[in-house]
Parts: sequence; C-alpha cells; structure tokens
Amino acid sequence: MSFLQAAEEAARLGGEILESWAQKFTAREKSPANLVTEADLASQEAIHQFLGSRYPGHGFLGEEDLSQAGTTYRWVIDPLDGTSNYVHRFPYYAVSIGLEENGQMIAGAIFDPNRNEMFSAAKGQGAHLNGQPIQVSENRELSHAMCMASLPVKVDRSHPAVQKFLEILEVAQTVQRTGSAALNLCAVASGRIDAFWSQSLKPWDMAAGILIVEEAGGKVTKTGGGEFQLEKPDLLATNGTDLHAALVRHFPA
Ligand code: IPD
Ligand code: CA
Ligand code: CA
Ligand code: CA
Repeated sequence: MSFLQAAEEAARLGGEILESWAQKFTAREKSPANLVTEADLASQEAIHQFLGSRYPGHGFLGEEDLSQAGTTYRWVIDPLDGTSNYVHRFPYYAVSIGLEENGQMIAGAIFDPNRNEMFSAAKGQGAHLNGQPIQVSENRELSHAMCMASLPVKVDRSHPAVQKFLEILEVAQTVQRTGSAALNLCAVASGRIDAFWSQSLKPWDMAAGILIVEEAGGKVTKTGGGEFQLEKPDLLATNGTDLHAALVRHFPA
C-alpha cells in the first residue's frame, strides 16, 4: 500500500466514524463557539491507530491533542474539519490527512463523507477527485471570482479579518464563508471556486489541502505573497492566474 493509499483509507475510515456518531454525538465548547464532539476524538483515534500500526516510526500531529515525535515522516491530521457544520448538520465537513517527509508535503487526502468525494494528491503526480484528475479554474479577473475566506471562530466586527473580508467583498464577484478550510482548498483545486484565504488556520486545516491545490496547478503563498509555511496561520490559495497577485495587493506586507 502506498502512502497515498494509506492516507485515503485512513480518511475514509475517519469519515465512517463521523457518520456513525452523527445521530448520537454531544458537543462541548473548548472555548466560546469553538466546538468539539465525540466524533472528532473517535475519528482521530481510529486514524492514529490505523496509520500508527502500519508506520510505527512515523510522527503524528492532530488537532485533538495528538503530538508524537517521529523520524523522517509526519502525518498531519484533522479528524473533523468543520465541527460547527457537523454539529448543526450542515453537510460541509471533511477528514483531512497530510504526510510530510522532512518537512515537505508528499501526500494528502481529504474525504467529504456527505458527497462521498475523496480528494487526493501525491507530490509530482497531480491531484485527483475519486480517481479522476482535477485542475484549478482559469478565471483571471477578481471581479468575476468566487472567493472564500476563513475567519477566526469568534470575532467582533472591528477585527482586521472582518474588515479584509468586507474590503474584498466589494471587489470580487463574491466572497463566501463556509466553515471547512480543508474543503475550501479542495474547491480551489477542483475549479469550483477561484481563491481561498485565511490568516487564522492551523497546520491540520491546511496540510493535505495545500498539496492538493498545488498538484491541481494552483498557487499557495502567504496572503502577502511570501513563501507559505505550514506552521504559520497565513494562507492564500488560488488558481495561480493574475488573480493571485490581485489578491496579494489587498494584503500589504
Ligand atoms: C475550522 C474550520 C474553519 C476555520 C476554523 C477552523 P475545525 O476547523 O477549518 O473553516 O474557519 O479556523 O478551526 O475546528 O472545524 O476543525
Ligand atoms: Ca476544532
Ligand atoms: Ca480544522
Ligand atoms: Ca477539527
């Protein structure tokens, strides 16, 4: 089994666990409006067990307090990206699993159990949706672009992220906010939207998705245009056309 196949299997397994909890979970707040359920924990445990038993020397990083040092490889796991949506039964959430080799993303799988869609990519081998190649959109014009943004979980109206959202809302065709950064990255990769940005994400929100975008022909940088770093919460992912520079201009360095 290749690393990519293992990532896909683990993501599907996580998705099954989410669905098995869908009628019985309880939600609690980690902090105001920041929810977690038994499904988040059970999904992560199953994924960790699945991958950990196959690759005993590998490192792990997962949202639900999973941090395990390893050697060359590290799995970066979001067992449920879009917990608020899950809790409210809005069907837009996913399981995201990325694999780094010496700090470089080499494989990633994001599974959407509601649409039964498996997005995946391996370094240098393109990006796929349910086994079919995918690519980013060709739209170059911000005024014709559908963008998405992730804001911090709880913000007041004067927060810079809200102001930036409103600023770009005035010039893009539209800006959406949907509650799953991982699926937003898949939407960029598959040409369903043109751009996605956030300045408040964690490594597990982005790990698999950035590789899927890049392998689909898109571009990933910091919002100000600098080199993307997984450990920094700053991401702009687009179809890689002039649109990228047009959005970077809205984020002065
Ligand atoms: C959240 C989602 C959301 C983003 C939040 C994340 P979670 O992840 O990706 O789109 O706006 O910043 O925390 O907590 O549902 O895994
Ligand atoms: Ca969370
Ligand atoms: Ca997440
Ligand atoms: Ca999560």
